[in-house]
This record gives sequence, structure tokens and C-alpha cells, in this order.
Amino acid sequence: MARILITSAIPYINGIKHLGNLVGSQLPADLFARYHRARGDEVMFLCATDEHGTPAELAATKAGQPVAEYCAEMWEVQDKLGKGFGLSFDHFGRSSSDQNHKLTQYFAGKLADAGLIREVDDQQMYSNTDGRFLPDRYVEGTCPNCGFEDARGDQCDNCTKQLDPVDLINPRSTISGSTDLEMRPTKHLFLGQSTMKDQLEAWIDSKNDWPILTTSIAKKWLNDGDGLQDRGITRDLDWGIPVKRGDQDWPGMEGKVFYVWFDAPIEYIACAGEWAEANGKAEADWQRWWRTDKGADDVRYVQFMGKDNVPFHTLSFPATILGSGEPWKLVDYIKSFNYLNYDGGQFSTSRGRGIFMDQALEILPSDYWRWWLLSHAPESSDSEFTWENFQQSVNKDLADVLGNFVSRVTKFCRSKFGETVPTGGSYSEQEEALIKELQEKLQFYQAHMEAIEIRKSASYLRAIWVAGNEYLQSAAPWAVYKEDPERAAAIVRFSLNLIRLYAVLSAPFIPDASKSMLTAMNADGAEWPDTIEEALGALEAGQEFTVPENLFRKITDDEREEWQEKFAGTRD
Ligand code: MF3
Ligand code: ZN
Repeated sequence: MARILITSAIPYINGIKHLGNLVGSQLPADLFARYHRARGDEVMFLCATDEHGTPAELAATKAGQPVAEYCAEMWEVQDKLGKGFGLSFDHFGRSSSDQNHKLTQYFAGKLADAGLIREVDDQQMYSNTDGRFLPDRYVEGTCPNCGFEDARGDQCDNCTKQLDPVDLINPRSTISGSTDLEMRPTKHLFLGQSTMKDQLEAWIDSKNDWPILTTSIAKKWLNDGDGLQDRGITRDLDWGIPVKRGDQDWPGMEGKVFYVWFDAPIEYIACAGEWAEANGKAEADWQRWWRTDKGADDVRYVQFMGKDNVPFHTLSFPATILGSGEPWKLVDYIKSFNYLNYDGGQFSTSRGRGIFMDQALEILPSDYWRWWLLSHAPESSDSEFTWENFQQSVNKDLADVLGNFVSRVTKFCRSKFGETVPTGGSYSEQEEALIKELQEKLQFYQAHMEAIEIRKSASYLRAIWVAGNEYLQSAAPWAVYKEDPERAAAIVRFSLNLIRLYAVLSAPFIPDASKSMLTAMNADGAEWPDTIEEALGALEAGQEFTVPENLFRKITDDEREEWQEKFAGTRD
């Protein structure tokens, strides 16, 4: 039994995530967690909300709420939606937790002790009207590069040029609109990660099994331009984790907080502490996942994230861990994703374009979305959601192939033999051939799941369903029944066992449908098969079952058109 630590990139607190966000980290992480639990491994699957930084402050202001209250409410919303999608976190934490406050300050102290933090005198935009420093995103103005009038302090959305607030022409505060701005001196902490370049590079080079997407982004940041830069880890903001050196005040840093990208990944660790607290566990219980001196040396740690998060996970967070000089667990494998586009463009949170998690669940159950998203995960390139494609996948894979198989077998059995696994007859070379075929496909399915090749895993699972359908079609118990009811009974018995097998194998992708299938087969505790042959003998003649409700319904053309229109723009 292996021990596997899994984290999904922690979503920003500001608002409900869209399906592109979901498929870029939480959902594939959940697939992996469910698979490994099913294989009998010990899994710790953690996620949280990312609550600090300017996006949280801005969203709270927009909602007219104090930021702490806003975050608490949005955590509830995200927690509920995560459950709605069947995300099986062992804990869904908050980066604003006590644990994360303490641990972030602790890491800063260790890094300072190691001589890796220096204080830098800096200049920052200050708004006299607002009485505060303005972080990058709080300043807008005209882009010096293209003349776009609403360029943000960190980047121009029109020409994508990276900016500094001082570059902007006619800068103004986004809080008050005031142009009464000036540069004021301020002091910030910088993490000396440039001195760790060789160590980081050697570590990344040792990971020759990582996806190319992950290593290529890491290498680019290590070596492009001026190479790995030291980075500021503090900000002049109110909301965040106060800058301290361990539990000591940090002279000169009063009123400042850590930069959100410093504390957010530390929440991966703190979250395990929150899990322990929430479940009445001891400190040692979470440390055995995170401290290699306390039992985590045999843990395999896998992270899931979108490609924009890769630099922070391959360089910044490892720099924090390595720099601390303490035996914290480093990531073993980073699975990163490209983007999911929406119907000819991009998902856009600000313009409400695309489908958001709450809306998705309002129109269809989560398994429909899980199946489409995972079977089209943007692994080797960006992928695109279109309603045509969604309708086609659902109607074909889920309704015609899997759903129809289950309903034909169970209904035929009920009509001829009752709701009991039928007795009599014997298996022929047809069944043997299918066993052999499924055994082979299962091997591939498992290998791709282990390797986190999600589309390939989905296509093997689909192939496993298809093989059963083809078997049923050619064995044709409804025709055989007239001449040889015993043989028809054997075919049906075998097919009912296939339903049970499909439920087990499909559970990581479509957990709710799997549950219905297992319950219908009276096989709730069914475990992952050792061999197909054995698994297909699990339901014995004479056992009762029930005909399940229709597992999946088809999406009509009218619905498709209606939804396409509904999600084309600005949500209300
Ligand atoms: N909130 C970030 C995003 O959605 C991800 C943070 S991941 C962590 O892009 F490493 F910081 F935790
Ligand atoms: Zn521009």
C-alpha cells in the first residue's frame, strides 16, 4: 500500500470558478485521488481557498463587504460547489487559517535565519486621497506601449506588455479614481532565490518523468532573460498574513503582509494541520505526510495545476522549502494543464463568458460534466468546450454506450428471469474472449491512470464499455432465449457482472452513476478487481438486484441551443 499526498492548486476566493478552472486542477486531482483510494492506497487529498492579495480585497469591496466576511461566505460557496462536483478532498481549507498564519511566519523566520531574506528599500505608488499604498492592480492608466487607456499596473490587457505602475501615463487609483498619486519610499523583504538557481535546476533536471509542459515552463523561468530573480515576498496591504519572523515582530515591517504567492503554497502544508484539527488528530498525524523526518519519506507527493501556476510550484515554493533547511516534503510529480477554451473564445470570469460551476450543476448532474471535462482534459494542448461536442459525448458515451447497456441488461433480465441473477447455462468462448479483451484493456487503463494520462485513461474506460456492448449485441440473449433459455441466462448473468465491474472501474470518473449501479447490483462494497475473470464471477446466481433509474439522459438539440445562447455572455 502506497501513501500518496495530492494537492490541487488552491482557487482564488474571489468568485465562483468556471469549468476551465475546474478541469485545470481540482477535477483531475480528484480523479487521481479516487483512483488511488480504490486501489487501496492511503491518500491525503488537500485543497483550500486562496484568500489573500488584491483580488480578494477588490472583490470584497465590490460586494460591499468586509474582506474577512466576504472570504468566509465565499469559502462556503466554493465548499458546497466542490461537494456538488464530487471533489473528495480530505480537507478543504483556507489560506487565512491560523495554521497558515503561523506556518508562513515560521518559514519566513527560517529563511531569514538561513540568510536568504534581505530588506530592500523600494518606491511604491501612494494615494493621498485613499491614504494607502496602491498595489499594482489598484493602479490603472494609459499603456505606454499601445495607448490603451485602461491598462493595469501590472500588465496591459490590450497588448499584454508587463508593466510597472510607474510606467503608466496618467495613473489613477482604482479605489477612488484619484490621480493624486505619488511615489513614496517603502521597505520590502526579498527572497534570495537567485542564489538557489543551481540547486533548483539540478532538482528539476532530476525529474525526467515530468510532463514536458511542466519542465519547459520551469526551464524557461530559470534561464530566460536575466534568469531566476529574487522576489519580493511582502506587500503594503491590510489583508493578509502580517509580516513576522517566526513569532517575533519584524522591525521596519509593521503594517505589512506577506505576498499572496508566498503564503498560498504554504497553505498546502497548513491545510494538513487544519485537517488534523478538524478531525481530532494529533500533530504527528499530519506531519507524517509532510515531514520526511516524521514518516513522510515514503510519501509520493503529486501536485495538480494550470500552466500559469507552474513557475510558482517548480521554483518559488521549492525555494521556500529548500531554503528553510528543514526536512519538509518536496513535490515528486507536477501534473500541469493547458487551458480549456469556451465555444470559440476564452472562458472569462470578468465577462461571465462560459459555464460556471454553479450554473453547470443547475442544468445537469455532475457526472455529465466530469465525464466530458476529464475525457477532454487539456493535456497536450489547449482544448475547447463546444455544446455540440458536449452533447455528442454525453449522448454517445454515457447514454448510448454505458447507460443503455445497463438498462438493456437489467430490463431484459427482469422481464425473463425476474430481478434475480439467473441460474443455469454455461459460459462459452464468447465470454472467454471478452474476459481476455477486458483484461488487456484494464492493464492499459490502470497504466494510464498511474501515469496521470487522463484522456488516454478515459478512452480505455470507454473502450471497456464499448467491448461489453459489442459482446451483448453479438451474444444477443433476447434471440437466444427463444431456443436456449439456459444459455440466455448465462449471458445475462455475465452481463450483470459486467455492470458491477463497470461501476467499480468507472467510479473515479463518474462516482454518482457508479454508486447507482453498485446499489442496483447489491454490490456496494465492491472492490477494484484483481483479475477480470474473478471480478466477473462476483455476482452469483440467485442474488437479487434492482433495475436502476435511467443512468443518463440524452441532451436534446433544443436544450443545446438554449444553453449555448444562455452562456454566451455576461452572467446575471
Ligand atoms: N490561486 C491560484 C490560482 O488560482 C493558485 C494558487 S496555488 C498555490 O491561480 F500554490 F498557491 F497554492
Ligand atoms: Zn498596451
